[in-house]
Amino acid sequence: MATTNDDPLTLARAALPHAYAPYSGFPVSAVVVSESGRAYVGVNVENAAYPLARCAEQIAVGAMVAAGERRLREVLVLSTSPEPATPCGACRQILYEFGDADTVVVCRSTQGSERRFTLGELLPEAFRLRDER
Ligand code: THU
Repeated sequence: MATTNDDPLTLARAALPHAYAPYSGFPVSAVVVSESGRAYVGVNVENAAYPLARCAEQIAVGAMVAAGERRLREVLVLSTSPEPATPCGACRQILYEFGDADTVVVCRSTQGSERRFTLGELLPEAFRLRDER
């Protein structure tokens, strides 16, 4: 899902009820805003085979790449927990593939609290083979 019309928080709020998280009961939505300003939305998608769960960030990045974009400039992660969820380790590396140390990551709770990071803070010394974008 890509759109230029709505702000990331509006999109994340709209998508959150679509998260498929019957096993963890921990719904998450994520919006990645690309270099062009378009926003791509993802939600976590779990599976009866638990390790196959996909995080919201991964789905959002996939939507961006499928639309032909490869540079992200901002990420929003929305969860319902009192403390906003921060991207898991794997997602930090996946975000870094298309972002850089200065990419802004906003982690927000539906209960109101917010934490802001850069990808460099979340994943110092990230692995990069070379810049393939
Ligand atoms: N999850 C995300 O989708 N993104 C995050 O940033 C943290 C964790 C998902 C994975 C799993 O479906 C559920 O939250 C509980 O770990």
